Amino acid sequence: MKVTVIGCGRLGAPYACSLAAIGHEVLGVEVSPAVLGRLSQGLAPFDERGLGEAVAEHHASGLLRFTGSYEEAAAFADVHFVCVPTPQQDGGLGADLSAIESAITSLASRASGRCLIVGKSSVPVGTAARMGRLAADHAPDGAQVTVAWSPDFLRESTSLEDAARPTRIIVGLPTCAGQAEATLRRVWAPWTEAGVPLVVADLATAELAKSAANAFLATKVSFINAMAALCEASGADIHTLAESLAHDPRIGSAMLDSGLGFGGSCIPKDIRALIARGRQLGVPEVGFLHQIDAINIRRRRRVVALARQACDGSLAGRRVALWGAAFKPGTDDVRDSPALAVAADLHAAGASVAIHDPRALPTVRRQAPELECVDDFERVLDGADVLLHLTHWPQYADADPELLIAKPAQYRLVDARGTLDARRWTDAGWVYQGLGYALTS
Ligand SMILES: NC(=O)c1ccc[n+]([C@@H]2O[C@H](COP(=O)([O-])OP(=O)(O)OC[C@H]3O[C@@H](n4cnc5c(N)ncnc54)[C@H](O)[C@@H]3O)[C@@H](O)[C@H]2O)c1
Repeated sequence: MKVTVIGCGRLGAPYACSLAAIGHEVLGVEVSPAVLGRLSQGLAPFDERGLGEAVAEHHASGLLRFTGSYEEAAAFADVHFVCVPTPQQDGGLGADLSAIESAITSLASRASGRCLIVGKSSVPVGTAARMGRLAADHAPDGAQVTVAWSPDFLRESTSLEDAARPTRIIVGLPTCAGQAEATLRRVWAPWTEAGVPLVVADLATAELAKSAANAFLATKVSFINAMAALCEASGADIHTLAESLAHDPRIGSAMLDSGLGFGGSCIPKDIRALIARGRQLGVPEVGFLHQIDAINIRRRRRVVALARQACDGSLAGRRVALWGAAFKPGTDDVRDSPALAVAADLHAAGASVAIHDPRALPTVRRQAPELECVDDFERVLDGADVLLHLTHWPQYADADPELLIAKPAQYRLVDARGTLDARRWTDAGWVYQGLGYALTS
């Protein structure tokens, strides 16, 4: 079948590849000349494991092409998957839906005959129904445009695997959209026949399926981090507490890693959009997510406080080495990165900040030129007063603390991710401070 993918970023590019991989002819539509330029040459527009190979393979087979033209997209296919950004509004908690509105009107106004637009971006509940009305207002006479919503659950760093084998597909359909459902069942047949569950819902439920999943995950992370704060105050040990919780089959171990908390371009803005939408709909119950957000932000401040303490009470003029800039390991994405938020606070407090990351330094150099980027994870320690471990790349856990001890001015480490072996670092002579433990003097 012929389909388009509108917006070829962190979601759209892997999704386009996964559709080509199951045999569809895919046309990607992208407004950024830089992103379009790379994709049109068969290259990945950003650093994501396996994406370069997948784009090159499907580009070479002819199943995957890219364009900047909505005219070409409308002429190419009558099924369109919309993967454009829905960031947090400037100065507000709600989502900025301007890219969605632009994509929907651009497609609907060029439609002829039947046209199915499937939103995949994460949006506040009620958006899809409104987009259906917007599409109808812009559709030419004789065109029949249906708007459905199928939010995606892929994760950066494993996006190609996740897109190729989704945990579930949920699709929200307006009433009387039997033909749209049949079309989508054909598009997704290779996945559903391989056992991927397909949940058919109304529009609002499908939209909420994504918001609810992200809110639940954020709640688990902030829950364990609230317990970590309690451990710090009471002298208990978060690691053993989490282990004990994980043995309870009603709780389980997933997302119970305490530390610096969540970040990235999805979960923080999605929970804020849910708070804003809850307010609009008069549902105070979702207001608890404010606390989830606040607990998460407080962990960043806690790490800065620990760094200050390691520098004898003042960061001014001190040198702080950071391991990690990406919002999580396996990606070069620094959008709403907890590590970069800590870096910014340290710099604002007068510290000179040297930062290492295996993949994200090119982006950091562009976005935060005040930070000193160091390509070698050992050299970043040179002359540092304290080392902060902020993104849990595996190479940091594998580092030998004995070899590193000659590097910094003081052997002080704040392990904000809890994935370094405290005993090894302490045995090597470092003063180790994790989150979720009583303060080391
Ligand atoms: N990043 C993820 O892992 C992920 C996972 C699931 C869902 N989502 C959701 O997917 C949506 C997109 O997120 P993303 O991370 O891929 O964003 P992104 O910024 O990486 O990619 C979006 C792309 O769309 C392009 N674009 C913007 N307006 C356009 C338009 N009108 N027409 C065509 N192209 C346009 C941009 O240039 C950009 O390349 C968001 O709603 C996000 O919450 C993201």
